[in-house]
Amino acid sequence: MKIGLDQIHFATSDYFLDMAKLAQARGEDPNKYLIGIGQSKMAVIPPSQDSVTLAANAAAPLLTPALRSEIDTVIFASESGIDQSKSGAVYLQDLLQLPNTIRAFEVKQACYSATAAIQFAMGYIALHPTRKVLITASDIARYGLHTAGEPTQGGGAVAMVISANPHIIAFDPDSTVFTENIMDFWRPNYATEAMVDGHYSGHMYIDFFQDVFQRYCQQKQLHLADFAALAFHLPYTKMGLKALRAVLPTTDDTTQKRLLDNFEASRHYSRQVGNLYTGSLYLSLLSLLEQATTLKAGDRIGLFSYGSGAVSEFYSGHLQPDFKAALGNLDQVLAQRTEVTIPTYEKLFTTSLPTDGSALKFQTFINPQRYYLAGIDQHQRQYRRPQ
Ligand code: CAA
Repeated sequence: MKIGLDQIHFATSDYFLDMAKLAQARGEDPNKYLIGIGQSKMAVIPPSQDSVTLAANAAAPLLTPALRSEIDTVIFASESGIDQSKSGAVYLQDLLQLPNTIRAFEVKQACYSATAAIQFAMGYIALHPTRKVLITASDIARYGLHTAGEPTQGGGAVAMVISANPHIIAFDPDSTVFTENIMDFWRPNYATEAMVDGHYSGHMYIDFFQDVFQRYCQQKQLHLADFAALAFHLPYTKMGLKALRAVLPTTDDTTQKRLLDNFEASRHYSRQVGNLYTGSLYLSLLSLLEQATTLKAGDRIGLFSYGSGAVSEFYSGHLQPDFKAALGNLDQVLAQRTEVTIPTYEKLFTTSLPTDGSALKFQTFINPQRYYLAGIDQHQRQYRRPQ
C-alpha cells in the first residue's frame, strides 16, 4: 500500500519586511542578507496571529466536507506552542469545527517535529488505511532585534494531509535518523526568543545531514544521481545550499546541475518568508513541487529534516501521477502581502500579551477574513473564525 502526502497548503501573515532595508537599518551590506544568508523578504507576524491561528489558516482551505469525515487525527507540530499543557491541536479542532470524535495532540522537537508527525501518521495509516491524518507545522521564528539571528526570523504554517493512495508523494517506509544532545539552539520556558550558537548550529546541520544521507544511500543502495531533487530544512536558504554543496562532488556534472536547479526552485518561497522552524522543510518541498519545471511522476525526492538539539532524519518518496493537480502557485498569495517599515516591524515584534490575567484586545493588524487572535482575558486566548 502506498502512503504519503495527499494534500499540502501554506499560510503566513499579511506583512513582510524587505531584507535589504533591514540590512541598511542594521549597518550591514544588503548582499550579506540577500546573498550571504539568502533571504529577500521576511514574514512579520503581528500579535493577532500565533502558532494556532497560522495553523488554522493553513489547514482551513483543505477541509472539504468529505475530508472532514475522513480525518480522525490532528497533530500540531510546533516549537512556539502557546501552552505548556494543553495542545494547540485542541484549539485547532475547535476553530476548524472538526468532529469531537478525532484525537488531537502536539509534538515538539525544534524544527524536526513535523517529520516525527509524518512518521507517526504513516505507521498509523498502515494499520488503519481508510483514515487520514491532518498535520500542521506551525511556528514563529524569533531571535530578537539587533541579533545575528535577526535576518533568519520569519513564520508561518504548512498543513499536510497524510493518507493511503496519496495524490502528491508516496513515501518510502525506510529512513535514517541521528540524535545527539547538543546545545546549538534552544529556548528555555521563560524565554520568548531562541538562544543560539549560530555558527556551531550550521556546522552541526551539515554534519548531521552527511551522516543520515550517507547511511540512507548505503542502506538502500542509492546514489546522489538517483534523486531528482533534495528538499532541505531551510532556516535560511543559504543553509540548504551549503549542505547540498557538501555532497555534490560525489556525482557527475549533469546530476549536479539538476540538483542545483531544483534547489533554486525549492528555496523560492522560503526566500520570501524566512524561517518557519518545523514547517520550513515542507515549505521547501511545496516550493520545489510548484516551481521546478522538469519534475515528473515517478521521480524520487529526498527530504532532510533537522531539529536543533538535535534530531535529524532523511527519507524519500516518489512523485505520484497527478501531483501537479494537487498544487497551486503561492507566488500570487505572497505578492498580495503588505510591506511594513522597520519601526512598525520593531513595534509588532515587541508587543506582547499581558501575563497577569488582565484583558487586552487587539485593534490593528487584524484581517477578519482569516482566523485571528482577538486578544486575551483572564489568561485565556480569544480566537476568532473568519467573518
Ligand atoms: N555579500 C555576500 N555575502 C556576504 C556578505 C556580502 N557583503 N557579507 C557576508 N556574507 C556572507 C558570509 O560570507 C557568510 O557566508 P557563508 O555562511 O557561506 O560563509 C554569510 O554571509 C553569513 O555571514 P556571517 O556568518 O558573518 O553572519 P553572522 O555571523 O552575522 O550570522 C548566522 C549568520 C550564524 C546564520 C545567524 O544569522 C544565526 O545565528 N542564525 C540563526 C541560527 C540558524 O539559523 N542556524 C541554522 C542551523 S540550526 C537549524 O537549522 C534549526 C533552526 O531552524 C534554527
